[in-house]
Amino acid sequence: MKTHRRTFIKHTAVAGAGLSLLNIPARLFAQQKKEKVRVGLIGVGARGQGHLNLCLRRRDVEVIAICDPDTKWAVPKSRDMIAKAYGGKKKVAEYTNGDEDFRNMLKRDDIDAVIIATPWEWHTIQAVAAMRAGKTPAVEVCGASDIQECWELVNTSEETGIPVFGMENVCYRRDVMAVLNMVRQGLFGELIHLQGGYQHDLRGVKFNNGQQLYGGGVEFGEKAMSEAKWRTNHSVHRNGDLYPTHGLGPVANMININRGNRLISLTSVATKSRGLHKYIADKGGKDHPNAKVEFKLGDIVTTLIKTNNGETIMLSHDTNSPRPYSLNFRVQGTNGLWMDDMDSIYVEGKSPYDQWEKAGQPDQADSYMNRYDHPLWKRYANDASGAGHGGMDWFVINSFVESIKRGTPYALDVYDLATWYAITPLSEQSIAEGGNVQYIPDFTRGKWINRQPVFALNGEY
Ligand SMILES: NC(=O)c1ccc[n+]([C@@H]2O[C@H](COP(=O)([O-])OP(=O)(O)OC[C@H]3O[C@@H](n4cnc5c(N)ncnc54)[C@H](O)[C@@H]3O)[C@@H](O)[C@H]2O)c1
Repeated sequence: MKTHRRTFIKHTAVAGAGLSLLNIPARLFAQQKKEKVRVGLIGVGARGQGHLNLCLRRRDVEVIAICDPDTKWAVPKSRDMIAKAYGGKKKVAEYTNGDEDFRNMLKRDDIDAVIIATPWEWHTIQAVAAMRAGKTPAVEVCGASDIQECWELVNTSEETGIPVFGMENVCYRRDVMAVLNMVRQGLFGELIHLQGGYQHDLRGVKFNNGQQLYGGGVEFGEKAMSEAKWRTNHSVHRNGDLYPTHGLGPVANMININRGNRLISLTSVATKSRGLHKYIADKGGKDHPNAKVEFKLGDIVTTLIKTNNGETIMLSHDTNSPRPYSLNFRVQGTNGLWMDDMDSIYVEGKSPYDQWEKAGQPDQADSYMNRYDHPLWKRYANDASGAGHGGMDWFVINSFVESIKRGTPYALDVYDLATWYAITPLSEQSIAEGGNVQYIPDFTRGKWINRQPVFALNGEY
């Protein structure tokens, strides 16, 4: 085991040095092939436990360690899951000594990869530390605090030669992948406009009673648990698209962002902020101390992005109001469009003139979703069944693990992650400046021109 690890570091260090001499930092995958991936998890809260479960289910993954300062809930719950899966035969190390203990976990020489599912403000710090320790990180989604963070991810990855995997699970949603298939087969003609977003009533996530994950009270911060403990504070202090990746990641794949295309600029506007205060006053009473809190986050934030190849992308962030869940997808080309809401599709020459058709379900014979079901889903639907978010979470871990085993580049890489993360601080800046245009950095430093698409090109992983 130790030999594997040393070879990995040696290999990547040599590759890193050689590449920077040659000024070709794009080759970020210098790992040897592996049969088993040894994983450490940083953050085993609600999301981390989902990843832990998927790792424990796989024969090609060995969970070596977990790290989380929450010894009341997150760690005991994870310990139980591990005991059930490994039947007490294997001991998994625990790093629970405060916020910085992940650094001790990263000193181990028997971990290949780490999965980071912590509060947003930790993602970059922990991913950078993991790369510096020679471990390849898979990082959960969020938006960055500032643009510098995005550069730090890219620069560290290029410098160390350690690749970063962006855990954008919606890229693997079954209908999204079927639509990607439609796009690649030219069903909609040439794409011109795309929409996506995070439209999710999070009021029960942003507030709880400190005893349960969702709802039951209007506390946030130290009196609350899970996301209400940290996420809600972002709504107090920030006004921007705080969660851009679920909407942007999937449509970015459809127009080859960072691979022949790139995001150029954005402008954002926000509505007034009403929903969170109203929720507190309605549920906790207007005299509850939290009813005095002023939330900066506008209830609906709308961002318009222009791409190099002439498409527009509209993102919405809508998490403070009563509403059914929808990621608001719309994928429109010169020949037709798909819209997530109302399950609607229109293709010129196929659909009855001026009438929506149903895109349908993969198990409905001859529906669009059946005909264009992505080969990955056709192949792995059974393996994915029961995994989080309708199975798509299985594909995220599968892609991460298979890439490490095969020594192939990640399908969602550090340039993707940096680009998506950057939307948050840029949208904040745009709103603060009354909607002024912000330019989106080219994190690939020009390599987007020649980089080729890699995401889900076949039914392999
Ligand atoms: N992709 C998705 O569908 C999806 C869904 C939910 C959450 N998420 C993302 O996953 C991440 C975690 O969210 P969550 O819902 O699990 O939140 P959570 O609050 O339930 O879990 C976060 C865990 O991180 C731990 N933690 C805090 N600081 C730490 C540190 N310094 N070192 C190690 N552990 C630390 C906390 O104790 C907690 O147990 C967030 O980025 C969130 O946006 C993604």
